Amino acid sequence: MADKDPSSLEELEKRLDAARLGGGTERIERQHSSGKLTAHERVDLLLDPESFVEIDALVTHRCRDFGMEQKIVPGDGVVCGYGTIDNRIVYVFAQDFTVFGGSLSETNASKICKVMDLAVENGAPLIGLNDSGGARIQEGVASLGGYADIFLRNTLASGVVPQISAIMGPCAGGAVYSPAITDFIFMVENTSYMFVTGPDVIKTVTHEEVTKEELGGAATHSAKSGVCHFTRANDAACLLAIRQLLSYLPSNNLDEAPPGRSEDPPDREAPELDSMVPADPNRPYDMKQLIAAIVDDATFFEVHSNYARNIVVGFARLGNQSVGVVANQPAYLAGVLDIDASLKAARFVRFCDAFNIALVTFEDVPGFLPGTQQEFGGIIKHGAKLLYAYAEATVPKLTVITRKAYGGAYCVMSSKHLRTDVNLAYPAAEIAVMGPEGAVNILYRRELAAAGEEASAVRAAKVAEYRERFSNPYIAAERGFVDAVIEPRTTRGHLIRALRQLAGKRQAIPAKKHGNLPI
Ligand code: HXC
Repeated sequence: MADKDPSSLEELEKRLDAARLGGGTERIERQHSSGKLTAHERVDLLLDPESFVEIDALVTHRCRDFGMEQKIVPGDGVVCGYGTIDNRIVYVFAQDFTVFGGSLSETNASKICKVMDLAVENGAPLIGLNDSGGARIQEGVASLGGYADIFLRNTLASGVVPQISAIMGPCAGGAVYSPAITDFIFMVENTSYMFVTGPDVIKTVTHEEVTKEELGGAATHSAKSGVCHFTRANDAACLLAIRQLLSYLPSNNLDEAPPGRSEDPPDREAPELDSMVPADPNRPYDMKQLIAAIVDDATFFEVHSNYARNIVVGFARLGNQSVGVVANQPAYLAGVLDIDASLKAARFVRFCDAFNIALVTFEDVPGFLPGTQQEFGGIIKHGAKLLYAYAEATVPKLTVITRKAYGGAYCVMSSKHLRTDVNLAYPAAEIAVMGPEGAVNILYRRELAAAGEEASAVRAAKVAEYRERFSNPYIAAERGFVDAVIEPRTTRGHLIRALRQLAGKRQAIPAKKHGNLPI
């Protein structure tokens, strides 16, 4: 009995060792051989060295059914606590797959809720490392309630502290909905998946045959569904990317993002920009090259890079200030706005606005994508989301029209009319209701029909006339819809001066409970 003295240091050590060991060496080896790290290893890699402080390491479940009273592991399948990333506090939970498959019990959920509450109270980001078989089957509704407790907290924390989810193993059933409410989802390639119902259920209900990977792997969710924002090749790369992302974000909605440490001169000119946008309006170019030429040290942290590639979103710094970049991508589908692009950009704009990150929009857009697929899919309400997001945003907003700004897309893409602070245009910008060919077809339908063999000559003349009249930035500049027409090489200096000018910006929206975003 003497060696069981509950007040001894040995007893404490024994209990902490048991918590550290989780489901035991055999299961840890299984975790490693499937290419995954353990929950503790992940937390250690994620945080600054030696900074992790564990909370509730000795919590145990209270289930007494199905022989569970014989299977008690301190910590109960989730590692929770806080630590630092680049010396800033973050809260973290990491599900431990070696303990009951990381499944969510009542006590396991209450541990997660505790760190969520601390994150909100103390204004620090919350990071969830998910690797779990879902609700702990032995606990029934108690574990379902635990999920709902987490969903509520995710929702209340939304827009207060950044919430980041990494999917590092299975994530099935209702378990996907906590990550879905958070701001950014990372997935590890080949070892993680997310779905509401798995392949077996799908086969029974719809007779479709699909593998786990096809249904809910990282490739599927990063490119097809857009559920996930980032994929990385393995656990270590994923955890490093979370650290990088956080470097652009403030700790909470009342804070500013930490400044960068770049020595890139604020007034640096980029002569290559003068010829980067092709004179031929139908020739593509890579908008990411243009972004790289302008931002600090050419460093752009792209979000959602595999999804809706006709629009580019991500974080960068300008004069060491964190900014959210939204840019049409002429190199993909001519940069057209469609449903997916609208959703992708709208969510990003709202994130930046919630967290005081200035928005910089690079615009080269031929309009919204026409077609039955888009109309039946609801491009009206989805496109409206982007419009709403820009209109609602009160952070500093800057827009550079690099080439086309046509039609509704002109209005949507952070136009002056949506309270954008600084709107710039390159000399070759074309700002019009639509492109010359489309406009001439509508305006001169009768003349073209009557012209017979001369039709193509008449069309060419009318197109030239339209281009001369409308396809330039000067009509917009004459009305003040564009503040300045600038030499492309000077873009960086213009943007950084604008950001400094707007450092004290305070803008309000009418008091309301919340708006009614066209969901
Ligand atoms: C209790 C679980 C568990 C669970 C896994 N385990 N899932 N224990 N509750 N939900 C245990 C296993 O019994 C096993 O214990 C260990 O975890 C590892 O599981 P394996 O099956 O051996 O691992 P693997 O082959 O890698 O398969 C992983 C898996 C599979 C794909 C996750 O375990 C699985 O399908 N689990 C059930 C998934 C599920 O349907 N969950 C409920 C979803 S519904 P031992 O002791 O053998 O190591 C849901 C509702 C939430 O979550 C609703 C919220 C609104």
